Amino acid sequence: MKVTVVGAGNVGATCANVLAAREVCAEVVLLDIKEGFAEGKMLDIFQCETLMDFDTKLTGVTNDYSATAGSHVVVITSGIPRKPGMTREELIGTNANIVKTVATNILKFSPKAIILVVSNPMDTMTYLALKATGLPKNQVFGMGGALDSARFKCYLAKALNVNINDVDGMVIGGHGDTTMIPLLRKATCKGIPVCELADDATLQKVAADTMVGGATLTGLLGTSAWYAPGAAAAYVVESIVKDQKKIVPSCTLLEGEYGLNDLCIGVPAVIGINGVEKIIELQLNENEKNQLLKSAEAVKATNAVLKEIDAL
Ligand code: NAI
Ligand code: 2OP
Repeated sequence: MKVTVVGAGNVGATCANVLAAREVCAEVVLLDIKEGFAEGKMLDIFQCETLMDFDTKLTGVTNDYSATAGSHVVVITSGIPRKPGMTREELIGTNANIVKTVATNILKFSPKAIILVVSNPMDTMTYLALKATGLPKNQVFGMGGALDSARFKCYLAKALNVNINDVDGMVIGGHGDTTMIPLLRKATCKGIPVCELADDATLQKVAADTMVGGATLTGLLGTSAWYAPGAAAAYVVESIVKDQKKIVPSCTLLEGEYGLNDLCIGVPAVIGINGVEKIIELQLNENEKNQLLKSAEAVKATNAVLKEIDAL
């Protein structure tokens, strides 16, 4: 199988590196608009092959979409990242043009590709890519919940002082500091609800830390994070390519599920060879339902900007 990653920056190159090193697919193509950048990143990864024992075919190109032809999956990471103090939503003007152009170009050469949107503001960029390409909803979706859930699990493991791989939990809603919803009530450690293992104040702090997980890293790094975002995108790609049917909170178009319509937002979904194969409707309590409703309103308000800037 062939996977293309658009954007050879921090997140895109990390995703390409994880895909290659884990031999998730036979071939990875990396494309960037900056002359020689993707070629350089792929040459660098190629030089890891004998050191790390993998032999994935690697191609780096400058804006040459013909090299992406016949891709099974395309990950869109092109666009600007946020700087300290910026919200993901502030990136919309620049990234909308980039995502729309990239999605349209991809469609010309890989009409059947599953498109995974990573560029921020991701919920709105996913909605834009879906509308701009006119592809079926299973074929275009966004990655945010996989990353936010990984961060949630890190903060839970630290707070509970347990092995991180015993922890399970999910973040749904928008991929934004105030729109994401860490589902504390459904989080577990080795099957035990976390609310039986820690007091409410501790768990509320875990939720709050998770919500600003991206902003914390942006403050420390001076730009947004890339190791976990790149790995999270690769995790979703692997579930598609290997038809693993993992349940991953993913940004997908809702048509009545959770009582919501006409927006892409994070909800658990079965991810397989056809992309989003099934949306899972969780039983939420009143508080969680209200949080999701508020999150949806915020995502819709950002989507409305697309019309104001003539992107839709
Ligand atoms: P970066 O600046 O390191 O890389 C972006 C790359 O996109 C650059 O190499 C740039 O040359 C390229 N690019 C710009 N316009 C392009 C075009 N038209 N065609 C092809 N390539 C183009 O940024 P980074 O850190 O890799 O972040 C990428 C995006 O991912 C940002 O919007 C960031 O906010 C978002 N992000 C999303 C996450 C998520 O969970 N959804 C997590 C982390 C970042
Ligand atoms: C992150 O969550 C900013 O979306 C980026 O790291």
